[in-house]
Amino acid sequence: MIVSEFVPKPYKFILDSGSVAYSSPSNIALVKYWGKKANQIPANPSISFTLNNCKTLTTLKFEKKTTKGFSFEVFLDGIIQNEFKPKIKQFFERIEVYLPFLTSYHFKIETSNTFPHSSGIASSASGMSALALCLVQLEQRLNLEMTKGFFNKKASFLARLGSGSACRSIEGTLIVWGSHTNIIGSSDLVGIKYPYKVHPCFNNFCDTILLVDKGEKQVSSTVGHDLMYRHPFAEQRFAQAHTNMDALIEVFKTGNLSAFISIVEREALTLHAMMMSSDPYFMLMKPNTLEIINKIWVFRKKTGLHICFTLDAGANVHVLFPENEANEIREFIKTSLVMHCQNEQFIEDILGEGAQSIKI
Ligand code: DP6
Repeated sequence: MIVSEFVPKPYKFILDSGSVAYSSPSNIALVKYWGKKANQIPANPSISFTLNNCKTLTTLKFEKKTTKGFSFEVFLDGIIQNEFKPKIKQFFERIEVYLPFLTSYHFKIETSNTFPHSSGIASSASGMSALALCLVQLEQRLNLEMTKGFFNKKASFLARLGSGSACRSIEGTLIVWGSHTNIIGSSDLVGIKYPYKVHPCFNNFCDTILLVDKGEKQVSSTVGHDLMYRHPFAEQRFAQAHTNMDALIEVFKTGNLSAFISIVEREALTLHAMMMSSDPYFMLMKPNTLEIINKIWVFRKKTGLHICFTLDAGANVHVLFPENEANEIREFIKTSLVMHCQNEQFIEDILGEGAQSIKI
């Protein structure tokens, strides 16, 4: 499958060497992407909040070479990471047709995260989107004629080919990926900004990420997605995601936070229920994940505050709440939930506006 819109015309300029840099955030899905078809096409639409503080900073240094094939090295916090190379090589192979300059340069990819790698915080989302953005910025220097809109669209398109959820990290604050009948412009190929009205109660919505288990995940998302192929509940799950997207359109219009909570928590638990009922089955939640969830439910019932949780493919808990209830909820998190985190670690985040180019 080649999408001709993203295949460039011959470049106008020649660059021998240089560097570009981007910071790109993580995102947290409200309706989850879990299951995909060939070419990184999602099995169902998803929608996410773009985060502000959890991000990857990537510098891409490039130097012309004469040898054939891809040539690159990757560093995380200044330390060479050969174990990242297969994923990046696969990414380059998938996108070479859209960025024909890839084999003309040797690349030095220097990256750092503001959060622990492989912690269930979507480091592949911020990492792949930051790299895609650097590459599109380099392409822009070779061509110059690119609108901001097309720049973001191409970055999202390429990021998806690196990691599906990465296509939702280019812009903020609410991003839809995957075609849905009632969301105009939605596409399986790129993330788009949510096109309808969003109630002001979602402005500056907060996400405190409780780091329950910072270790490497036992099962990668890629393996988890594959297990949806012959999952007994796959079709019902994909249909449910469409229904939940419809329900969220109404929620965003009206600001009905109770309905929001029920959709978001059900999505999180369904994601993990899919993992627990696949073949082979697996479980990424830890006892402390459940402790936190139970405490959130008790606190919500007692106070009537609009606190809820969602989960990624990991044990960590994202605690979501509106800005105007933040003081009381943050206090509750510190006194009652943080004790269930590994080394009491947590990250306070809020909704963000997406990736930014870094001047170097
Ligand atoms: C549970 O985007 O990491 O976070 O496309 O294989 O790289 P690949 O998967 P990835 O899957 C993320 C899954 C999720 C849900 C979501 O973010 O929508």
